[in-house]
Amino acid sequence: MRMTVFGCGYLGATHAACMAELGHDVLGVDVDAEKVAMLARGEVPFYEPGLPEVLARSLESGRLHFTTDFDEAAAFADVHFLGVGTPQKRGEYAADLKYVFSVVDELAARLTGSHLLIGKSTVPVGTSVEIKKRIAATGTSADISVAWNPEFLREGFAVADTLRPDRIVLGLDPDGDPDAVVAKVEEVYAPILAAETPFLRTDLATAELVKVSANAFLATKISFINAMSEVCEAAGADVSTLADAIGYDQRIGRRFLNAGLGFGGGCLPKDIRAFMARAGELGASQALTFLREVDSINMRRRTAMVELATVACGGSLLGSNIAVLGAAFKPESDDVRDSPALNVAGQLQLKGAAVSVYDPKAMANSRKLFPTLDYTDSAREACHLADAVLVLTEWAEFLELKPADLEPVVRKKVIIDGRRCLDPAVWMNAGWEYHGLGGTPRVVAPSSHTR
Ligand code: UDX
Repeated sequence: MRMTVFGCGYLGATHAACMAELGHDVLGVDVDAEKVAMLARGEVPFYEPGLPEVLARSLESGRLHFTTDFDEAAAFADVHFLGVGTPQKRGEYAADLKYVFSVVDELAARLTGSHLLIGKSTVPVGTSVEIKKRIAATGTSADISVAWNPEFLREGFAVADTLRPDRIVLGLDPDGDPDAVVAKVEEVYAPILAAETPFLRTDLATAELVKVSANAFLATKISFINAMSEVCEAAGADVSTLADAIGYDQRIGRRFLNAGLGFGGGCLPKDIRAFMARAGELGASQALTFLREVDSINMRRRTAMVELATVACGGSLLGSNIAVLGAAFKPESDDVRDSPALNVAGQLQLKGAAVSVYDPKAMANSRKLFPTLDYTDSAREACHLADAVLVLTEWAEFLELKPADLEPVVRKKVIIDGRRCLDPAVWMNAGWEYHGLGGTPRVVAPSSHTR
């Protein structure tokens, strides 16, 4: 089967390579010529474990190509996936749909015959109806059906999530031919559906909402445990053990209950804000006022981290050296969009600290975003003469650090665990001052963490 994928970022590049891996002939399309050239050479422009291998195999098979040419894309296939970004508008909560609409306008103007446009981007509810109107407004003679098939992939697990998704959701237009659309999409995902993946057929609005409500739920779960961490800290309780204990209840579940610096990245923060903005437009803003609280609990973690570092440095950061371990918004990613770690590093520097940052994969992206911070080539180097070591992204490499690795280089044996990912006993027993964001356990009790 032939198909195009518009947008070659985290979502689109992964989708294009994985669809070719499934045996389809795929053309990836992006306006960024440099990105297209890199992908065509087999280079992934971002860090995503497993994707370089899938890309290499797909290119080698001759089933995957990339282009910037919309004429070529329009002529290539009759199934088109839409995977461009929907960032937050500058100075507003709403999502910016300019990339989505630009692809729609450019493509519709070039198509003839029958085509299926399948949206994958995270969009405000109502976007596919808006797309239908835009297509009609171009006056195209083509018969273009619109369907919505939200993507749930996590960075760091993008290939596995694409090839083995928890579920496939397909939003259908009742004015079109839903059965024909389902048949086409089943053909696309046949190998995945054969693995008994649940396939949910729904209307367009529900499909759009499924994605944003899933992300809103995940964000709420994280902010819930972080709110509990504030209470635990005040009461002298241990939020990590609390999360283990409530997580054993199957109705709650332990995943996404890791307290700490909170959520960042290109999705959760902007998605909950865009969701609130859209609910407001629909006259349902009251339904989502809790998300404002979810957002502010999350942002408060960053301030709490800066305060904790300030206290650990004796009440002022002026003249102190701080080592920041981790810059990506989460491990197994080089993405620094709305990264809590970099935000904290920037705040510490503004308050007068000399900040040295190390991340296993996100150095290049961090340098572009925060050029004034100091960057080092290793965790040990970042800790040189440090008055406090801050672990802000839970990379495996940092979990394996031992007190003896850092003792020869630090000025003070102070460690602050922003992700509650270290074993406090190991550091305390080695004579370090250990602080956990969200409360330091007074008695280090044995607990069984299932992360
Ligand atoms: C998220 C959704 O999980 C995914 O389904 C959707 O398609 C895109 O948005 P992603 O942005 O890749 O994926 O990151 P995710 O793994 O969800 O983590 C988001 C943030 O939450 C990270 O900053 C992470 O550190 C933080 N987090 C996660 C916590 O603070 N605690 C947790 O328990 C889990």
